[in-house]
Amino acid sequence: MSKVDFQDRLLSLGLARVSEAAALASAKLIGRGDEKAADQAAVNAMREQLNMLDIAGVVVIGEGERDEAPMLYIGEEVGSGEGPGVDIALDPLEGTTLTAKDMPNALTVIAMGPRGSMLHAPDVYMDKLAIGPGYATDVVTLDMSVKERVAALAKAKGCTAENITVCVLERPRHEQVIEDIRSTGAAIRLITDGDVAGVMHCAEAAITGIDMYMGEGGAPEGVLAASALKCMGGQMYGRLLFRNDDERGRAAKAGIIDLDRIYARDDMVTQDVIFAATGVTDGSIVSGIKREVGFMTTETILMRSKTGSVRRMIYRNPV
Ligand code: FBP
Repeated sequence: MSKVDFQDRLLSLGLARVSEAAALASAKLIGRGDEKAADQAAVNAMREQLNMLDIAGVVVIGEGERDEAPMLYIGEEVGSGEGPGVDIALDPLEGTTLTAKDMPNALTVIAMGPRGSMLHAPDVYMDKLAIGPGYATDVVTLDMSVKERVAALAKAKGCTAENITVCVLERPRHEQVIEDIRSTGAAIRLITDGDVAGVMHCAEAAITGIDMYMGEGGAPEGVLAASALKCMGGQMYGRLLFRNDDERGRAAKAGIIDLDRIYARDDMVTQDVIFAATGVTDGSIVSGIKREVGFMTTETILMRSKTGSVRRMIYRNPV
């Protein structure tokens, strides 16, 4: 592995190009009802751009195990091999169904940190809980009941539960969680997909209106969301969930021994990272791709946890 330092400042603009390219490639598939084609277009473009960067990268969070995903699989080496050794977490299209149906908040997402900085989360579910910045550590925890979390957050925010909005993925498995949240008087923003954006919403509560995220979603998306919150500020917790031996085997393969461990944000992402996400369809974090005759325009959020800097970049790309 290369001994060059992780040059987060230099690499960040390259990272933005990677997420932009994935979004531009998926643009022609927005609203076409074909999840797979949209994902494949984003994967191809993301991989091509990543391989132009001077990094010795390893995909830690990717498209799946090597035998399931031909490209950007977990463990794939990317980049020119010339620069610093880095871990990469990516989701070339977070919200394949949102893209296929032209619904809000589909993003292309990528995070990068020094080698060894990211949890090798297997492709299983994760129970997630997130809030934005400005609260005392552990004001809410995964060990609290749903009702206790709402009450604790309302107290910390200095309001009643009626003034709290919780974001939850709309799934049958969340029926009880939804019922419990409603019983407190809190509001719920249900989303059909895209919990990386769901978690990120908490970091900009004044804009998005979302105070807390909770529920079960993909573990890989959990690490990406933790990377985003490490840059934006905010707390996040995740506990891996295993439904069968195959899933427990995936954890063993990833080197995870304690299957019940609760990971805080900085356990999932242990060192400073950079993060880029480009809007594919319109959302509250970034706008979606605008297509006009002769050019396409994207918006990308580009962040560095070391400085807490958050850039929003508009890219007008002639086509
Ligand atoms: P894809 O983009 O891979 O379709 O994932 C979208 C997503 O909604 C994630 O944001 C979320 O973590 C996961 O799927 C939830 O999984 P499930 O659809 O199985 O409930």
